[in-house]
Amino acid sequence: MAKYSKGKKVKVGKSYAGLGLFADEDIKKGEYIIDYTGKALTEEQADKKGGKYLFEVKKNYYLDGADRKHTARYINHACNPNCEPDIYGKRVIISAIKNIKKGDELTYDYGKEYFNEFIKPHGCRCAKHKK
Ligand SMILES: C[S@@+](CC[C@H](N)C(=O)[O-])C[C@H]1O[C@@H](n2cnc3c(N)ncnc32)[C@H](O)[C@@H]1O
Ligand SMILES: [Zn+2]
Repeated sequence: MAKYSKGKKVKVGKSYAGLGLFADEDIKKGEYIIDYTGKALTEEQADKKGGKYLFEVKKNYYLDGADRKHTARYINHACNPNCEPDIYGKRVIISAIKNIKKGDELTYDYGKEYFNEFIKPHGCRCAKHKK
């Protein structure tokens, strides 16, 4: 099961929106890539802290990937993504929803709430939206 398999080789690089995370090997549709890790925060702590790297896992449980050691924080948003996050209890598992080639940027859909707060005001720069 995806939950227990080893993650894929990835690397951080320059992207359309600052830094991004790229596949460092071919990845097949459905394969587990990486966990979204971060410091566990309550809703109150998350509201106080704020920032771009907060992932709402469930009610009153957030992961804050602000520290650079949390590699999945580099994954950018795309409207036509190649990955998706799935929540298993307190874990956020990111897996491929398309076949991905070595060198491709990894992306997932951040969801409406995050998109409207952080992406929309400056305009989405994903492959579907850049001119
Ligand atoms: C979790 S971080 C992703 C990594 C970030 N690019 C970095 O360099 O650390 C999310 C932030 O990246 C930027 N970002 C991600 N996807 C974007 C997109 N499709 N269009 C514009 N900005 C984006 C926004 O500033 C967003 O708040
Ligand atoms: Zn977009």
